[in-house]
Amino acid sequence: MSTTTATKRIAPPKRLIFGPGPSMIDPRAYEAMSQPLTGIRDPYFLGVMAEIQNGLREVLGTRSSKTFLVPGSGSGAMEAAVGNFVKAGSTFGVFTAGYFADRMATMGQRQGARVVHCTKEWGEVFTPEEASAFIEREKPDVVAFVQAETSTGAYQSGRAITAAAHKRGALVIGDCVSSMGAMPVEMDLVGIDIAYSCAQKGLSCPAGLSPISISPRAWEWLEKREDDPVTWYLDLRLLAKYFEPPHFYHHTPSPPLYYAMHQGLAVIEEEGLRERWERHRIVGQKLVAGLVKLGFEPLVKDSSERIWHLTVVKPPANVEEAKFRDRLMDKYGIEIAGGLGKLAGKILRIGTMGPLASEAQAELLLDAMAACV
Ligand SMILES: Cc1ncc(COP(=O)(O)O)c(C=O)c1O
Repeated sequence: MSTTTATKRIAPPKRLIFGPGPSMIDPRAYEAMSQPLTGIRDPYFLGVMAEIQNGLREVLGTRSSKTFLVPGSGSGAMEAAVGNFVKAGSTFGVFTAGYFADRMATMGQRQGARVVHCTKEWGEVFTPEEASAFIEREKPDVVAFVQAETSTGAYQSGRAITAAAHKRGALVIGDCVSSMGAMPVEMDLVGIDIAYSCAQKGLSCPAGLSPISISPRAWEWLEKREDDPVTWYLDLRLLAKYFEPPHFYHHTPSPPLYYAMHQGLAVIEEEGLRERWERHRIVGQKLVAGLVKLGFEPLVKDSSERIWHLTVVKPPANVEEAKFRDRLMDKYGIEIAGGLGKLAGKILRIGTMGPLASEAQAELLLDAMAACV
């Protein structure tokens, strides 16, 4: 190891991150992270925490008092949802049409549940008839779906699933990692029982702290659960105690990440949630139209089923996606992403989120892409 490592200041390159997440950090979130740290029960910090919880409720569209933060990235929140609500021997129904739904299924298997899949082609969404037939057939205790499937660009509000699930008494886990902050989550309206998200996409914050919200009926189920979940760190009953008086110590939170999230939410509140959704919708549509002109083809055929702020396209036949991405990075310092799982090497995933969701930024990206095809 170089003898200068310990004293060298780092100077990371400045990129334009047009990927599916992480997205660009809001300047106010950056600034907040360098503010003085406090203790974990300092009244100031507890005030910040309470305001974050209010902001999360607003953006998730819920009135649930059990709305708080999981330490970790979106997968940590996913593991908290599955690890607390999917028990060994129970039936876990997963609506699978992409990479992240598969991840939830894997977590369910590791809990020892009987995992059953309702499967569709990647990029498609489920109809109420498909959801209801699956739920009636398999009688799951818990079902899970991905609201914005980042691997395909498909958006599924969840409405097609929740009514059938509740009719059978099943709880519904909704992965809102890629929807929150840029598109409607509407947890209470849709009827999601356990919604979780992340910091580094629609909230324009750094990864490491993830929102989770649990509906009153799901919390009641959890309160009645007789055994402890296998996980201690992500045990929601324990974790929740830190977020309400008397704020029992559970783990040491990271104040800079809380400050960043506070500011990320403040920025959303100032803009207005609906205005923010609309901005992402308009910019996404502009990007798709420009990409189609350049010969790219959207993976999700029906435009009403597309994620607004995450565009997934197949490149023209003469464009090799990995080399194309390298050219964008080398010439313009622009990052976009390739495919995951079975779509690796076949598609491009482009995010226009937060500070980059503007018509000017979309034009800049399209110009750079046109110069690289
Ligand atoms: C829909 C979805 N769920 C879960 C995750 C996992 O989140 P993380 O990478 O923050 O652990 C991602 C990450 O991109 C995602 O897009």
